[in-house]
Amino acid sequence: PDRYVVIGNPVAHSKSPWIHARFAEQTGERIDYEHLLAPVDGFDEAARAFISAGGRGLNVTVPFKLAAYRFANAHSTRAAAAGAVNTLKVDADGSILGDNTDGIGLVNDIERNLHVRLAGKRVLLLGAGGAARGVALPLLEAGVRELVIVNRTASKAVDLAAAMTALQVAGSEIPNLDADASAETEADAGAGAGAGGDAIPGAHVHTGTIVGGGAEVATGAFDVVINATAGSLGGELPSFDPEALTPDTLAYDMMYAAHPTVFMQLAQARGARAADGLGMLVEQAAESFHIWRGVRPDSASVLAELRAMLA
Ligand code: ATR
Repeated sequence: PDRYVVIGNPVAHSKSPWIHARFAEQTGERIDYEHLLAPVDGFDEAARAFISAGGRGLNVTVPFKLAAYRFANAHSTRAAAAGAVNTLKVDADGSILGDNTDGIGLVNDIERNLHVRLAGKRVLLLGAGGAARGVALPLLEAGVRELVIVNRTASKAVDLAAAMTALQVAGSEIPNLDADASAETEADAGAGAGAGGDAIPGAHVHTGTIVGGGAEVATGAFDVVINATAGSLGGELPSFDPEALTPDTLAYDMMYAAHPTVFMQLAQARGARAADGLGMLVEQAAESFHIWRGVRPDSASVLAELRAMLA
């Protein structure tokens, strides 16, 4: 069987090997997927050794997503926009493609599993670190009307907003992340589509406005509030107006924890619908599986099974 790993430090807790084993069973793909613990300063060496031994692909987790970006020979546009890589694919000619499936995993979980359409919605993103950067472009691609970014260090929110606005202006630099429209994209993009990203079809041009900064910009109710801060488990959040959370709001914590996070508790206290990041974990895995194997697993059933297992 072809060999894959999730590489990280720590990594033993990762549910990715279990998830991919279920995907393989479902689809009849013959793969072998394991944990790979690398020294904090030893990503390149560990990844190279795995690939030399015949490894076909790697999922990359904390703290190696930037190292994986530098390690790749080529990047998808969504990886370039995120500045980080969570999926490495070894091509037949030995070149290494870096992709990032975190953002599309979040979008697919919200839309397919939680049944909230993002198009036209007002979205508040808490945080401006690597996790937030990984999901900002896919949220815009999903057609959100407004994306407001709030961070403890306001300047980082402003920088992220500026980077996303620049991508929007660049237009053709924005990848098509709508899997259902991939055939149409290939036709539209013609021979020009390469590893650097597909041309964006006309229908995908969006008009979302992006605002970045401190708490003062985030006023009024939001349809979706996403917590992308690392402070979540420790119980610290950037300050934002609690009026953002209403009974009609989906409050999504990208973190998965055995117990509701402080963010989810705050959301529940405001009467909002709270969701954890378990679905995103399964959906980003499904997207990686598709990149490697060319087949799409039934992620919803695997999510249900994982949720039952953890209950
Ligand atoms: P990641 O790659 O997981 O996003 P990161 O790049 O270190 O990690 O970013 C962590 C995010 O959590 C940042 O938005 C950070 O805010 P700052 O940019 O101001 O550092 C946020 N964060 C971490 N600890 C926090 C805390 N105690 N309170 C509020 N925000 C916090």
